[in-house]
Parts: sequence; structure tokens; C-alpha cells
Amino acid sequence: MTASAMVAEFDDVAGWTADAVEQLGERHAIPAACRGSASPAALAWLAEACELREGTWLLDVGAGAGGPAAWAAERFGVRPILLEPMPAACRAAARLFKLPVIMADGRRLPLRPGSVDAAWCLGVLCTVQDKATLLKEIHRVLTPGGSLGLLVTVARCALILPSPDGNHFPTQHELAELLDDTGFELLEQIDEPGDAPLSWSRRADQVAAIVATRHRTDPAFALAAGQGERFARLFASGQISMQLIHAVTRPACPTSTRPAHGGTMSTPTGDNEFLHELETEVEAELNLAEASHPEETTGLPPSQWLFDPMDVEREEIGLRDLLGAAEALEGKPRPDESV
Ligand SMILES: C[S@@+](CC[C@H](N)C(=O)[O-])C[C@H]1O[C@@H](n2cnc3c(N)ncnc32)[C@H](O)[C@@H]1O
Repeated sequence: MTASAMVAEFDDVAGWTADAVEQLGERHAIPAACRGSASPAALAWLAEACELREGTWLLDVGAGAGGPAAWAAERFGVRPILLEPMPAACRAAARLFKLPVIMADGRRLPLRPGSVDAAWCLGVLCTVQDKATLLKEIHRVLTPGGSLGLLVTVARCALILPSPDGNHFPTQHELAELLDDTGFELLEQIDEPGDAPLSWSRRADQVAAIVATRHRTDPAFALAAGQGERFARLFASGQISMQLIHAVTRPACPTSTRPAHGGTMSTPTGDNEFLHELETEVEAELNLAEASHPEETTGLPPSQWLFDPMDVEREEIGLRDLLGAAEALEGKPRPDESV
């Protein structure tokens, strides 16, 4: 039930929206493809807060049909990368805006550490149960001090009315704690950024009217509409509210009082445990580095890759050296010594 309601809302409707935009014309694309209830005022606030400018690499996690990222590219000249798990939504974004779209889950981003300047995640957090994993992944791929723009629906009290299937609204307190725990510093937060002007909402409504006419009898249409109605009732009753947030990455904190990587390591008492943990971490980084090839996923030409392949090679060599050093300190034989 949960899965089908969310697939209807985020996948089927995205595909139908792209079809309707093709009938009405491209002026309808951005308003119709902003599906996290973001108005131009909300997007402008996020863009200014994140100091987006020409050439900024902007990752949009849970990009849906691509409206917000396309808006940021059109108005601010950013270079967007869209990431979205629903296949029809990915196809819709690619068809409507010809932007690079990665079909993936935000909890496992196929991107290098520190490879994007800024990230948006609009209307997504409440649809993900494991919010911390998603935020940690975004933190990993952002450059140090990089900006995160969030649009989050928060619960203002214990909810009495039913939530849309699959939605878990954090309270304001939980959200602040979540950001802190995942390495972000919350710099600014606002609500009610302003309604969309009629010229915008009229175009979105025209697209929605075509979708309704064509798909009214489809069970997925009823499921998606039911989700929207539950949302609207919760808003109208004041039980949930929409928040815009600007946060930046803090440098990663050490998780214990152990010496930092590359620091002096003496072997006696307790350090074997540290070395073992270090090895596990480095092995995980190395596996990720070896397995991840985003240039193949996005189909971007080499001139637009987010990294220099030589840097990647150097990073992998550095990780192998670190792993070798940790194994040597732990007293493990090197592969060439064990035979
Ligand atoms: C309310 S829509 C918002 C779409 C878009 N951000 C916008 O504002 O138009 C929520 C989106 O989050 C996506 N989503 C859900 N779970 C996700 C996950 N684990 N990783 C990335 N995206 C996810 C959904 O597929 C959907 O497209």
C-alpha cells in the first residue's frame, strides 16, 4: 500500500506530467515539475542562501521531475546534477530539461567525496525513514563548508489526522538534532516564503488539469490524489508546516578520542582495536572509490566530469598505502610476505 501510493505520486504522476507539458509547451515545464510545493519565492530564498552562481555544481537529491534544478540552472546558471530513484521521474526530468539525471537512492550516492559545491533536497526528507543516512551521504559528497538547501515538512504537534502513506514528519527539534548529528550547521531557517504568482500557478494548474482528464480512471491517479488530500488536510489544520533551511557542512568530528589518521601511532594496549577500526574504514572507502564510476552513470563527456581521473587514481593509491601501513602496524604479513 505504502509503496504503491508513493510510486503513484512520485513516478506515475511525473511521467504523466511530462506528457502533458509536451502538449502545452515548454513554458509549463518548470512550474509543473516543481513537485515539492516549492514556489519561485522559496527557490529564490534557497538559491540566495546557498549563494548559487554560474558554474556552481548543484546536486538535487530526490529531484523528482526536475523543476527546481532546471529553475536554478535557468536563473542562476548552475550546473545541476539530478538524482532520483523513480525511473519514470528520471525519464520525465531528462525529457523536459535535458539535464544529467542519475537514477539512484540518496542513501547511496554514486559520487566522489567533496565533489559538489551545493546540494538541495526539497520535499524529500519526510518520505525517507532513514533520514540520517541520507544526510550523511549528502555531507560526504559536499565540499567542506558546502551549502545544503532543504525544504522540509515538520510536525508541529502529535498528528491526529492520517499522514500520506510513507511519510514520517520530523519535529523541529528532531530535525535540528538530525542536522547536528550528521555534521551540518543550521545557519538559517524560515517558513512561509511566499505564494507563487498566478502566472506560475496557472501553468502548473493547466498541466494538472490535463493529467486529471487523461488519467482520472487510473487507480494510480486515485492513490496519488489521496496522498495530496491527506497532505492538504494536515496543512490546513496546522499540524504540519513547511520549512526552508540553509545549512553548511562542518568538518567531520572524530568519533572517539583516538589519534587522527596520519597521527603518531604507538602499538601497545588498545591500539590494535584502533588499527582494526581504521582498516575497516579505509577498506570501505577504497571499495567505494573502486566501485563508483559516476561518469558512466551520467553519460557526461569527460570535459564535464566532476573530478579529474588522476585525482581519483591518487586517492585510491593513498587509501591503499594507508591500508598497508595500518596492516603493517597491526603486525599482519603483507601479501608478498605471506607466501
Ligand atoms: C515531494 S517529491 C519532491 C521532488 C522534487 N524535489 C521537487 O521539489 O519537485 C519527493 C521526491 O523524493 C524522492 N525520494 C524518495 N525517497 C528517496 C530516496 N531515498 N533518495 C532520493 N530520493 C528519494 C521521490 O522519488 C520524489 O521524487
